[in-house]
Parts: sequence; structure tokens; C-alpha cells
Amino acid sequence: MTSLSRRSILRGAAALGGATLLSRPTFADERLPVLRAAPTSAQLAPAGYPSTPVWAYATEATGTVPGPEIRLGAGERVRFQLVNGLPQATAVHWHGIRIENAMDGAAPLTQAPVPPGDTFDYDFVAPDPGTYWYHSHNRSTEQVARGLAGPLIVEDREPWLGEPGAATRELVLILDDWLLDSDARIIEDRWDDLHAASHGGRMGNTVTVNGAANPELDIQPGERVRLRIINTATDRIMPLSLPHLSPQLIALDGHPITPREVETLILGPAQRADVVIDGRVDGDTRAGLLLDPGNGDWLEIASFVHSGDSLPLRGADVRPLPAWGTLPVPDLSYPQTEMLLMEGGAMRGMREARFDGKTMGFRELAANGMVWAFNGAASQMDEPMFRAALGRMVRLEMTNRSMFPHAIHLHGHHFTVLSRSGAANMEGDVRDTVLVGADETVDIVFVADNPGQWMIHCHMLSHQKAGMMAWFEVA
Ligand code: C2O
Ligand code: CU
Repeated sequence: MTSLSRRSILRGAAALGGATLLSRPTFADERLPVLRAAPTSAQLAPAGYPSTPVWAYATEATGTVPGPEIRLGAGERVRFQLVNGLPQATAVHWHGIRIENAMDGAAPLTQAPVPPGDTFDYDFVAPDPGTYWYHSHNRSTEQVARGLAGPLIVEDREPWLGEPGAATRELVLILDDWLLDSDARIIEDRWDDLHAASHGGRMGNTVTVNGAANPELDIQPGERVRLRIINTATDRIMPLSLPHLSPQLIALDGHPITPREVETLILGPAQRADVVIDGRVDGDTRAGLLLDPGNGDWLEIASFVHSGDSLPLRGADVRPLPAWGTLPVPDLSYPQTEMLLMEGGAMRGMREARFDGKTMGFRELAANGMVWAFNGAASQMDEPMFRAALGRMVRLEMTNRSMFPHAIHLHGHHFTVLSRSGAANMEGDVRDTVLVGADETVDIVFVADNPGQWMIHCHMLSHQKAGMMAWFEVA
């Protein structure tokens, strides 16, 4: 069957409710549990609005937005057969997992995109505890914007919940940003919007928490809860605050940190934060999770509704999460130093860059959908940005010469943030995605201990698509 006829059959199947074609045994080898990506609908906008046609992951009959929670212990395997019920090729990336290269889902670098109707078996170990997520990694500007993202939670290696100073309960909060029209339909004609791509990216107009507009979350007065917050938006940087809830940060991008109080928290696309909150005990029954949409207003995107008996406060000292103990400690004495220069975008632009094997001027680049470059090259996929010998310490000096922040993500590795614009980052946070502000320099360091070809890109997916995409090789 040609992919064309397959596609038209799929369209027909989708019109009939989607499941017909894929339940045919020819397509599914049921060896692994199925993770199906397919069209469905979800009630994203407040009650009274129609539901929104979305693309969603499903482990059960119907897909959900966000996708079903995948939860396992550290060192256990994630095993799924991706079944593609979408009208486009797709692939699943397991964001932040220090995974084996062939399972990284980074199409087209680590696997071919899976055509409609086809399957792909993912089977890998998740070595480190923490808060992660999975999402489409093919045509992701469109596919993630349509809903293909879900939480992947790797539980702590030693008991933490319920221990002294720890939380008694946890809540996973998936934050997303949707561009909807007045009928709550996803606006579909702007995947290639170069104006948006050369600014902050394709911004939505509806922020959801766990797929709902301003959901109410129950909490007991005085209760200590661990929030696992994940920003799955394609492009929106989310400044967040949790007033009256004494938030303390305990992990970033899955990796534990020494607990510290936070007033506001900035999560770029793909970043995660684990935050401990204490339910209020002042008699007030509400508190909000607030987001600044970029104009200094703080909007409530979820609310914590207090009810029940007041619990004794667990005290100010938050118990740190158990350390990973799995990351090699960087030896800073003899690093391989590499540069990542970010250029392009509105208001600064770039005179020229290499694309598709030629040097092009600004106009020709834009005609090819490219408005950003890494080290003078837009979407350079034919050769690596750098190579590192297995086990080598790499120091990457990232300079943002544009007017916009970028969320730089390295596949297959976590890295230590050494400094920002020359000032040492005393906290030494370990992350997989870091925001680099306009005109800022961020130095990171990591041990290249995972062999393979690994993507490095901006996780503002509009920027990724418009040039901020490359890879490095560890061998
Ligand atoms: Cu969230 Cu290339 O990844
Ligand atoms: Cu960017």
C-alpha cells in the first residue's frame, strides 16, 4: 500500500471516529503495550465552549490531553509500541531521559519518522529519578501544538514522600498554551508563521493546567504537597508564582537541588520544576497558581481550594530529594571547549548564514523558512556542531546575540550551569534545558558519557523549525 492511499484511508477512518483502521491486526504487533497517537477531542476551553479537536496519545481506548501519565521506578524500563494513527509521520522523544541513542525518538537523526499506520517499538531504561515528559519529535511545531505531549515520572530511588520534612502527596501539573479561535478550534494556518518564528514564537491565547482552563485542585490546610510542574508549551516562557503557599524549589528538569525558597519561577518550554508548597493555615480557602502572560499581569491558571481539617505544618525545612548518584562529576581542569552562537530573529537579524550547503543572505534564508542560526548555520543536519570522545568533559559557551530568549536543550545528557554572563551560578544547577536571555552568555559543562548523535536545539519549537537546530556526536 502506498503511503498516499494509506493516508486517504486514514482520513476516512478518522471521519468514522478514528479507531477502525488501527484495530486491524496487520498493523499492530501487540508484543509491547501500545501508545497510540491519533486525533480525538478534548474540553480545553471553559465549560460552555465546544470541545477542541486535538491529536493525543492513548494507552487506553481514547487519547487524552495531556497524554497518559507514564510512571516507573528509577532503573526500570519504559516499553511501548508507538502506533501512528495520525495523518502525518511521527516519533516520540522522551525528554530529559539519559537514554540510549536509538530510542531517543529524535527524527530524523536517530530514527526515521514513523509513517501513518506504522509502528515503532520503544524500549529503554530510565536511569534517573525525576519529572520528565514525552512529546512528538517530528513536525513538532505542529504536533506538539495539537496536543502530543504527556508526563513521564520516574520515582525516587529511596522513599521521600511521607518522610520528615517531605510532602505527603504529589500532583503533576502539565502546563500548556493553545492558540484557539472563538469556537475553541486550534488555529491551523500558522504553523509556518515566520513573523511569529522570528519573535517569541507561536504564542497561544489559552493556558491549560492538565488540559483544563483554571482547574480547582483540592488541598488541606497545612498540607505539604510536591508539585511536578512541566511546561509543555511550544513557545511560551511561563513566569509562575504561588502566593500564600510558601513555595520551595526541590528539583529542576528532574535533577534534585538543595531546597530553596522561590518567589517566582520561570519555566521555559520543556523545563520542569518540582516545588513543595504548604497549604495555607490563615483561614483563607483559596490560593492560586499564577502566570504572567508577558505584560506583568498575574493570571490565575489553577486554584488550590482548601478544605478539611488543618494539618500540623510540617515546618520550614524541606527534606531534600535523594541525590541521583548516577551523573559523572565534571572535572573542570581540562575541558573540550565549544561555542554556540545564537543569531537571527526580529530587530537584529543576521546578514547571512549557511543553509542547505550554501551561504545565503537574509532574504534567501527567509524564503527557505530560516530566520535563526547556530554558529552561522541554519538547521545544519549534515554534519555535527562538534564531536566529543566518549567520557570527555565538554564546556559549551553559549552566547545569545539576538533580542529574544532561547531555551537550549541537549539530548541524551544533563549539564551543569556554570555561569551566566560571567557571574558564577553558585547553585550549580543541573538541567537538560536552559534559558539564555537576550544578549546573555551561559556556560555549561557536561561529561559526554552517552555515545551517539544527539540533537541540540532551541525548545521554542518555532525557533527550532526556523533554524535553531543542530547535533553533536559522542563516540
Ligand atoms: Cu523536548 Cu529535541 O526535545
Ligand atoms: Cu529560541
